[in-house]
Amino acid sequence: MGDLLDKRLLFVTGKGGVGKSTVAAALGMVAARQGRRTIVVEVAHQDRIARAFHGEDSHFREVELAGGLWTISIDPQQALDEYLHMQIRVKPLADLVSGSRMFGYFAVATPGMSELVTMGKIWELAQLQRRTRGGERYDLVIVDAPSTGHGLAILRTPLTFANAARVGPVAQQGRAIHETIVDERHTGVVAVALPEEMPVAETLELRARLRRELGRPLDRVIVNALYPERFGPRQAGALARAAETAGTPVARAALRAALSEHRRARAQRDQVARLEEATGREPARLPFVFEPELGVEQLEWLSRELEVAL
Ligand SMILES: Nc1ncnc2c1ncn2[C@@H]1O[C@H](COP(=O)(O)OP(=O)(O)OP(=O)(O)O)[C@@H](O)[C@H]1O
Ligand SMILES: [Mg+2]
Repeated sequence: MGDLLDKRLLFVTGKGGVGKSTVAAALGMVAARQGRRTIVVEVAHQDRIARAFHGEDSHFREVELAGGLWTISIDPQQALDEYLHMQIRVKPLADLVSGSRMFGYFAVATPGMSELVTMGKIWELAQLQRRTRGGERYDLVIVDAPSTGHGLAILRTPLTFANAARVGPVAQQGRAIHETIVDERHTGVVAVALPEEMPVAETLELRARLRRELGRPLDRVIVNALYPERFGPRQAGALARAAETAGTPVARAALRAALSEHRRARAQRDQVARLEEATGREPARLPFVFEPELGVEQLEWLSRELEVAL
Protein backbone atom coordinates (compact mmCIF):
# COMPACT_ATOMS: atom_id res chain seq x y z
CA MET A 1 0.00 0.00 0.00
CA GLY A 2 2.65 2.46 1.10
CA ASP A 3 4.52 1.85 -2.12
CA LEU A 4 1.70 2.75 -4.45
CA LEU A 5 0.65 6.01 -2.79
CA ASP A 6 4.25 7.01 -2.16
CA LYS A 7 4.73 7.59 -5.86
CA ARG A 8 4.16 11.10 -7.16
CA LEU A 9 2.03 10.22 -10.15
CA LEU A 10 -0.58 7.49 -10.55
CA PHE A 11 -2.56 6.62 -13.68
CA VAL A 12 -5.83 4.80 -13.14
CA THR A 13 -7.03 3.09 -16.30
CA GLY A 14 -9.32 0.23 -17.38
CA LYS A 15 -12.13 -0.61 -19.78
CA GLY A 16 -14.96 1.93 -20.22
CA GLY A 17 -17.40 2.07 -17.31
CA VAL A 18 -15.52 -0.28 -14.96
CA GLY A 19 -15.17 2.35 -12.22
CA LYS A 20 -11.98 4.28 -13.06
CA SER A 21 -13.35 7.62 -11.85
CA THR A 22 -14.76 6.01 -8.72
CA VAL A 23 -11.47 4.30 -7.90
CA ALA A 24 -9.42 7.43 -8.70
CA ALA A 25 -11.59 9.44 -6.28
CA ALA A 26 -11.42 6.74 -3.59
CA LEU A 27 -7.64 6.48 -3.96
CA GLY A 28 -7.42 10.25 -3.63
CA MET A 29 -9.42 10.13 -0.41
CA VAL A 30 -7.14 7.45 1.04
CA ALA A 31 -4.03 9.42 0.15
CA ALA A 32 -5.41 12.69 1.55
CA ARG A 33 -6.51 10.98 4.76
CA GLN A 34 -2.97 9.70 5.17
CA GLY A 35 -1.69 13.25 5.01
CA ARG A 36 -0.64 13.52 1.36
CA ARG A 37 -1.56 16.64 -0.54
CA THR A 38 -3.35 14.97 -3.42
CA ILE A 39 -4.97 16.08 -6.66
CA VAL A 40 -7.27 13.88 -8.74
CA VAL A 41 -7.06 14.84 -12.40
CA GLU A 42 -9.87 14.24 -14.86
CA VAL A 43 -9.36 14.46 -18.61
CA ALA A 44 -11.53 14.69 -21.71
CA HIS A 45 -14.12 17.15 -20.40
CA GLN A 46 -15.13 15.09 -17.40
CA ASP A 47 -15.74 16.69 -14.03
CA ARG A 48 -17.52 13.83 -12.25
CA ILE A 49 -15.36 14.10 -9.16
CA ALA A 50 -15.98 17.79 -8.52
CA ARG A 51 -19.70 17.12 -9.03
CA ALA A 52 -19.77 14.12 -6.68
CA PHE A 53 -18.30 16.39 -4.01
CA HIS A 54 -20.59 19.27 -4.99
CA GLY A 55 -17.34 21.17 -5.48
CA GLU A 56 -16.70 24.33 -7.48
CA ASP A 57 -16.19 24.28 -11.22
CA SER A 58 -12.97 22.32 -11.81
CA HIS A 59 -12.55 23.09 -15.52
CA PHE A 60 -8.85 23.86 -15.75
CA ARG A 61 -8.86 25.07 -12.14
CA GLU A 62 -7.35 23.37 -9.12
CA VAL A 63 -10.28 23.13 -6.71
CA GLU A 64 -9.96 21.96 -3.11
CA LEU A 65 -12.67 19.39 -2.33
CA ALA A 66 -11.76 18.50 1.23
CA GLY A 67 -8.73 18.80 3.50
CA GLY A 68 -5.69 17.87 1.41
CA LEU A 69 -7.72 16.76 -1.62
CA TRP A 70 -7.97 18.74 -4.84
CA THR A 71 -9.30 18.10 -8.32
CA ILE A 72 -8.88 19.57 -11.79
CA SER A 73 -10.39 18.74 -15.15
CA ILE A 74 -7.92 19.25 -17.99
CA ASP A 75 -9.13 20.68 -21.24
CA PRO A 76 -6.57 20.12 -24.04
CA GLN A 77 -7.21 23.48 -25.70
CA GLN A 78 -6.55 25.34 -22.45
CA ALA A 79 -3.54 23.14 -21.75
CA LEU A 80 -2.19 24.10 -25.16
CA ASP A 81 -2.78 27.82 -24.52
CA GLU A 82 -1.06 27.59 -21.16
CA TYR A 83 1.85 25.72 -22.69
CA LEU A 84 2.30 28.31 -25.40
CA HIS A 85 2.22 31.15 -22.91
CA MET A 86 4.93 29.42 -20.92
CA GLN A 87 7.06 28.82 -24.01
CA ILE A 88 6.53 32.14 -25.67
CA ARG A 89 7.30 34.61 -22.95
CA VAL A 90 6.16 37.59 -24.96
CA LYS A 91 2.48 37.57 -24.16
CA PRO A 92 1.06 39.32 -27.25
CA LEU A 93 2.94 36.86 -29.41
CA ALA A 94 1.60 33.87 -27.48
CA ASP A 95 -1.92 35.30 -27.76
CA LEU A 96 -1.41 35.70 -31.45
CA VAL A 97 -0.27 32.11 -31.94
CA SER A 98 -2.81 30.42 -29.67
CA GLY A 99 -5.62 32.63 -30.89
CA SER A 100 -4.86 32.13 -34.55
CA ARG A 101 -7.28 29.95 -36.39
CA MET A 102 -4.51 28.31 -38.40
CA PHE A 103 -2.73 27.24 -35.27
CA GLY A 104 -5.93 25.91 -33.75
CA TYR A 105 -6.54 23.78 -36.84
CA PHE A 106 -2.97 22.59 -36.82
CA ALA A 107 -3.10 21.59 -33.16
CA VAL A 108 -6.41 19.79 -33.44
CA ALA A 109 -5.37 18.04 -36.65
CA THR A 110 -2.04 16.81 -35.34
CA PRO A 111 -2.66 13.28 -34.10
CA GLY A 112 -1.80 12.98 -30.45
CA MET A 113 -1.46 16.72 -29.86
CA SER A 114 -4.36 16.83 -27.35
CA GLU A 115 -2.84 13.89 -25.48
CA LEU A 116 0.59 15.50 -25.52
CA VAL A 117 -0.51 18.80 -24.02
CA THR A 118 -2.69 16.93 -21.51
CA MET A 119 0.33 14.87 -20.46
CA GLY A 120 2.39 18.04 -20.28
CA LYS A 121 -0.13 19.59 -17.89
CA ILE A 122 -0.25 16.41 -15.75
CA TRP A 123 3.53 16.43 -15.61
CA GLU A 124 3.49 20.09 -14.60
CA LEU A 125 1.02 19.35 -11.76
CA ALA A 126 3.45 16.75 -10.39
CA GLN A 127 6.41 19.15 -10.30
CA LEU A 128 7.75 20.24 -6.94
CA GLN A 129 8.38 23.67 -8.42
CA ARG A 130 5.09 24.53 -10.10
CA ARG A 131 5.22 26.65 -13.21
CA THR A 132 1.59 27.65 -12.87
CA ARG A 133 1.49 30.80 -10.81
CA GLY A 134 -0.17 30.16 -7.45
CA GLY A 135 -0.30 26.40 -8.15
CA GLU A 136 -0.26 24.08 -5.14
CA ARG A 137 2.61 21.75 -4.45
CA TYR A 138 1.23 18.20 -4.47
CA ASP A 139 2.66 15.03 -2.98
CA LEU A 140 0.55 12.87 -5.28
CA VAL A 141 -1.20 13.38 -8.62
CA ILE A 142 -3.81 10.74 -9.45
CA VAL A 143 -5.01 10.68 -13.06
CA ASP A 144 -8.44 9.35 -13.91
CA ALA A 145 -7.08 8.26 -17.29
CA PRO A 146 -9.00 7.39 -20.45
CA SER A 147 -10.07 3.77 -20.95
CA THR A 148 -7.47 1.11 -21.65
CA GLY A 149 -6.55 1.59 -25.33
CA HIS A 150 -6.55 5.37 -25.06
CA GLY A 151 -4.93 5.19 -21.64
CA LEU A 152 -1.97 3.40 -23.13
CA ALA A 153 -1.87 5.81 -26.07
CA ILE A 154 -1.69 8.82 -23.77
CA LEU A 155 1.20 7.25 -21.85
CA ARG A 156 3.09 6.63 -25.09
CA THR A 157 2.47 10.07 -26.59
CA PRO A 158 5.48 11.92 -25.11
CA LEU A 159 7.89 9.36 -26.54
CA THR A 160 6.16 9.36 -29.91
CA PHE A 161 6.55 13.13 -30.17
CA ALA A 162 10.11 13.05 -28.86
CA ASN A 163 11.04 10.55 -31.54
CA ALA A 164 9.24 12.43 -34.28
CA ALA A 165 10.76 15.81 -33.38
CA ARG A 166 14.18 14.38 -32.46
CA VAL A 167 15.62 17.79 -31.52
CA GLY A 168 14.23 21.05 -30.17
CA PRO A 169 11.97 21.86 -27.20
CA VAL A 170 9.17 19.38 -28.05
CA ALA A 171 11.65 16.50 -28.27
CA GLN A 172 13.37 17.59 -25.10
CA GLN A 173 10.17 17.95 -23.08
CA GLY A 174 8.66 14.79 -24.57
CA ARG A 175 11.71 12.86 -23.47
CA ALA A 176 11.64 14.38 -19.98
CA ILE A 177 7.98 13.45 -19.54
CA HIS A 178 8.56 9.96 -20.94
CA GLU A 179 11.39 9.39 -18.50
CA THR A 180 9.17 10.18 -15.52
CA ILE A 181 6.46 7.86 -16.88
CA VAL A 182 8.76 4.87 -17.13
CA ASP A 183 10.42 5.63 -13.79
CA GLU A 184 8.72 3.11 -11.50
CA ARG A 185 9.59 5.03 -8.35
CA HIS A 186 7.96 8.16 -9.66
CA THR A 187 4.97 6.86 -11.61
CA GLY A 188 2.50 4.02 -11.06
CA VAL A 189 -0.16 2.48 -13.26
CA VAL A 190 -3.30 0.97 -11.74
CA ALA A 191 -5.85 -1.05 -13.72
CA VAL A 192 -9.48 -1.26 -12.66
CA ALA A 193 -11.39 -4.33 -13.82
CA LEU A 194 -14.85 -5.72 -13.34
CA PRO A 195 -14.81 -9.41 -12.38
CA GLU A 196 -15.94 -10.50 -15.83
CA GLU A 197 -14.35 -12.30 -18.76
CA MET A 198 -13.71 -9.33 -21.09
CA PRO A 199 -12.48 -6.71 -18.60
CA VAL A 200 -10.11 -9.29 -17.11
CA ALA A 201 -8.77 -10.18 -20.56
CA GLU A 202 -8.28 -6.49 -21.32
CA THR A 203 -6.43 -5.96 -18.04
CA LEU A 204 -4.00 -8.76 -18.82
CA GLU A 205 -3.51 -7.35 -22.31
CA LEU A 206 -2.77 -3.90 -20.84
CA ARG A 207 -0.22 -5.46 -18.50
CA ALA A 208 1.54 -7.16 -21.41
CA ARG A 209 1.54 -4.03 -23.55
CA LEU A 210 2.87 -1.81 -20.77
CA ARG A 211 5.81 -4.18 -20.50
CA ARG A 212 6.32 -4.53 -24.22
CA GLU A 213 5.75 -0.96 -25.36
CA LEU A 214 6.86 1.08 -22.37
CA GLY A 215 9.08 -1.37 -20.53
CA ARG A 216 7.26 -0.78 -17.28
CA PRO A 217 5.04 -2.89 -15.02
CA LEU A 218 1.39 -2.60 -14.11
CA ASP A 219 1.59 -1.79 -10.41
CA ARG A 220 -1.77 -2.93 -9.14
CA VAL A 221 -5.07 -4.40 -10.30
CA ILE A 222 -8.25 -3.38 -8.52
CA VAL A 223 -11.30 -5.56 -9.09
CA ASN A 224 -14.36 -3.40 -8.66
CA ALA A 225 -18.00 -4.08 -7.82
CA LEU A 226 -17.77 -7.62 -6.49
CA TYR A 227 -21.04 -9.18 -5.39
CA PRO A 228 -21.05 -10.55 -1.86
CA GLU A 229 -20.83 -14.31 -1.54
CA ARG A 230 -23.78 -14.94 0.72
CA PHE A 231 -23.95 -18.73 0.66
CA GLY A 232 -21.50 -21.56 1.14
CA PRO A 233 -21.63 -24.71 -1.06
CA ARG A 234 -23.92 -26.60 1.31
CA GLN A 235 -26.36 -23.70 1.60
CA ALA A 236 -26.33 -23.28 -2.17
CA GLY A 237 -27.21 -26.97 -2.57
CA ALA A 238 -30.12 -26.61 -0.17
CA LEU A 239 -31.22 -23.50 -2.04
CA ALA A 240 -31.19 -25.35 -5.38
CA ARG A 241 -33.29 -28.19 -3.97
CA ALA A 242 -35.72 -25.78 -2.37
CA ALA A 243 -36.05 -23.85 -5.66
CA GLU A 244 -37.35 -27.06 -7.28
CA THR A 245 -39.75 -27.99 -4.55
CA ALA A 246 -41.00 -24.71 -3.07
CA GLY A 247 -44.77 -24.59 -2.72
CA THR A 248 -45.65 -21.31 -4.42
CA PRO A 249 -44.42 -19.77 -7.70
CA VAL A 250 -43.36 -16.62 -5.82
CA ALA A 251 -41.19 -18.63 -3.44
CA ARG A 252 -39.66 -20.56 -6.35
CA ALA A 253 -38.89 -17.31 -8.20
CA ALA A 254 -37.28 -15.77 -5.11
CA LEU A 255 -35.13 -18.85 -4.52
CA ARG A 256 -34.07 -18.96 -8.17
CA ALA A 257 -33.09 -15.28 -8.01
CA ALA A 258 -30.98 -15.95 -4.91
CA LEU A 259 -29.37 -18.91 -6.66
CA SER A 260 -28.62 -16.88 -9.76
CA GLU A 261 -26.94 -14.15 -7.69
CA HIS A 262 -24.96 -16.84 -5.92
CA ARG A 263 -23.75 -18.26 -9.27
CA ARG A 264 -22.79 -14.79 -10.41
CA ALA A 265 -20.78 -14.19 -7.23
CA ARG A 266 -19.04 -17.54 -7.79
CA ALA A 267 -18.23 -16.72 -11.41
CA GLN A 268 -16.79 -13.39 -10.25
CA ARG A 269 -14.47 -15.20 -7.81
CA ASP A 270 -13.26 -17.34 -10.72
CA GLN A 271 -12.29 -14.18 -12.59
CA VAL A 272 -10.45 -12.83 -9.53
CA ALA A 273 -8.57 -16.15 -9.34
CA ARG A 274 -7.74 -15.88 -13.04
CA LEU A 275 -6.23 -12.43 -12.47
CA GLU A 276 -4.26 -13.65 -9.50
CA GLU A 277 -2.87 -16.60 -11.42
CA ALA A 278 -1.84 -14.50 -14.41
CA THR A 279 -0.26 -11.65 -12.42
CA GLY A 280 1.14 -13.64 -9.51
CA ARG A 281 -0.56 -11.33 -7.04
CA GLU A 282 -3.97 -11.16 -5.47
CA PRO A 283 -5.81 -8.13 -6.86
CA ALA A 284 -7.33 -5.59 -4.48
CA ARG A 285 -11.09 -5.99 -4.29
CA LEU A 286 -13.89 -3.46 -3.94
CA PRO A 287 -17.45 -4.48 -3.20
CA PHE A 288 -20.50 -3.62 -5.24
CA VAL A 289 -22.35 -0.74 -3.57
CA PHE A 290 -26.10 -1.29 -3.62
CA GLU A 291 -27.05 2.36 -4.01
CA PRO A 292 -28.61 4.11 -7.01
CA GLU A 293 -25.81 6.70 -7.06
CA LEU A 294 -22.38 7.01 -5.53
CA GLY A 295 -22.03 10.26 -3.60
CA VAL A 296 -19.38 11.46 -1.17
CA GLU A 297 -20.64 9.13 1.56
CA GLN A 298 -20.36 6.01 -0.62
CA LEU A 299 -16.97 7.12 -1.98
CA GLU A 300 -15.76 7.61 1.58
CA TRP A 301 -16.93 4.08 2.45
CA LEU A 302 -15.25 2.63 -0.65
CA SER A 303 -12.05 4.48 0.21
CA ARG A 304 -12.00 2.77 3.64
CA GLU A 305 -12.42 -0.60 1.92
CA LEU A 306 -9.67 0.28 -0.52
CA GLU A 307 -7.29 1.35 2.22
CA VAL A 308 -7.54 -2.13 3.74
CA ALA A 309 -7.51 -3.97 0.40
CA LEU A 310 -4.45 -2.34 -1.15
N1 LIG B 1 -18.25 -0.47 -6.50
C1 LIG B 1 -19.32 0.01 -7.13
N2 LIG B 1 -20.57 -0.36 -6.75
C2 LIG B 1 -21.66 0.13 -7.40
N3 LIG B 1 -21.60 0.99 -8.42
C3 LIG B 1 -20.39 1.40 -8.85
C4 LIG B 1 -19.18 0.93 -8.23
N4 LIG B 1 -18.14 1.51 -8.87
C5 LIG B 1 -18.66 2.30 -9.83
N5 LIG B 1 -20.00 2.24 -9.83
C6 LIG B 1 -20.94 2.96 -10.72
O1 LIG B 1 -20.69 2.50 -12.04
C7 LIG B 1 -20.76 3.57 -12.97
C8 LIG B 1 -19.42 3.70 -13.70
O2 LIG B 1 -18.41 4.09 -12.76
P1 LIG B 1 -17.29 5.15 -13.14
O3 LIG B 1 -17.90 6.37 -13.72
O4 LIG B 1 -16.40 5.29 -11.99
O5 LIG B 1 -16.58 4.31 -14.30
P2 LIG B 1 -15.50 4.80 -15.36
O6 LIG B 1 -14.63 3.63 -15.64
O7 LIG B 1 -14.85 6.04 -14.88
O8 LIG B 1 -16.43 5.11 -16.61
P3 LIG B 1 -16.01 5.88 -17.97
O9 LIG B 1 -15.22 4.87 -18.77
O10 LIG B 1 -17.33 6.20 -18.57
O11 LIG B 1 -15.20 7.07 -17.57
C9 LIG B 1 -21.11 4.82 -12.17
O12 LIG B 1 -22.50 5.00 -12.23
C10 LIG B 1 -20.68 4.46 -10.76
O13 LIG B 1 -21.45 5.16 -9.80
MG1 LIG C 1 -14.70 7.96 -15.79
